[in-house]
Amino acid sequence: MKKFWHDPSIRASDITPETVYINRRKFLQLGAVALGSAALSACVDRPALVNPVPTELSPDPVYPEGVTDELGDALTGYKGITGYNNYYEFSLGKEEVARLAPRLQTSPWEVRVDGLVQNPKTYGIEDILARFPRQERIYRLRCVEGWSMVIPWMGFPLADLLKEAVPLADARYVKFTTLKRLEEMPGLINPAFPWPYTEGLRLDEAMHDLTLLSTGLYGKELPNQNGAPIRLVVPWKYGFKSSKSIVRIELVKEQPSTFWSSIAPQEYGFYSNVNPNKAHPRWSQETERRIGELKRRPTLMFNGYEKEVASLYTGMDLNTYY
Ligand code: MTE
Repeated sequence: MKKFWHDPSIRASDITPETVYINRRKFLQLGAVALGSAALSACVDRPALVNPVPTELSPDPVYPEGVTDELGDALTGYKGITGYNNYYEFSLGKEEVARLAPRLQTSPWEVRVDGLVQNPKTYGIEDILARFPRQERIYRLRCVEGWSMVIPWMGFPLADLLKEAVPLADARYVKFTTLKRLEEMPGLINPAFPWPYTEGLRLDEAMHDLTLLSTGLYGKELPNQNGAPIRLVVPWKYGFKSSKSIVRIELVKEQPSTFWSSIAPQEYGFYSNVNPNKAHPRWSQETERRIGELKRRPTLMFNGYEKEVASLYTGMDLNTYY
């Protein structure tokens, strides 16, 4: 199997501490933000992005130069990853999420693992961080809307947690539930959506080594807008399968109903593997716009992870299982 994490000699702890680089970078920030905003607004079908993240709070992390994913694609800039977000519990406005999300209290935080498991357990986020060693994994994220990023996550395989829970013989799916806390998440007031945000995977998808529980990115703790303190990352599926701010992981027998599949099953099916040959009912999925780039690029089958995951779907008609 290909490696999806970069040189293990470069660890999160090797990255320059914030206090050192904040001063070094301060004078560059205004210019960088202006440039980043121009690039983003040029390559997404949105109004210009005006400094979405307070610069003092989120300088670009110093990261080893020339790091790419396993296909040679450059990392998306930190400001793109943390300033252009889908997180409907806060807002439908991608550039607004980063402004609203800091109000989320991510400590204390508990994740309940239960359902059809031998060892149900409620973990404090600090138990999770202490118990499961984190790796850096560089993955492409392809949103169903047609944009994409390359993100250096920190996290650990979901399988590590599930193995500790020991799924029972009749457990066939995993259901993920996101926090629903009205006082801190203004978007929850929107009655058009079936809160809380839920998602699901088949158990073998959940156990696949590429499926990550992430608690950080770019060598830093996960920003709230990206799903702090813990979120799922399933790189071969459209981004909406990767639930943020998870509070419950439940093993179940039947395929669970999910947030998006209950709203529009014909548009956002349970599987939702990235597939350039299967158009969304309202737009083509053949190409995507990488955030920070001007031209569209071809979308790859399973988002470029075909060798690793195609065998999970042997015998299934991928054009039917949207
Ligand atoms: N998780 C929750 N709880 N709420 C959301 O609105 N949006 C999804 C997914 N996870 C979403 C969510 C969608 S549509 C995408 S594309 C990704 O998060 C975006 O992740 P990012 O903002 O870290 O790029």
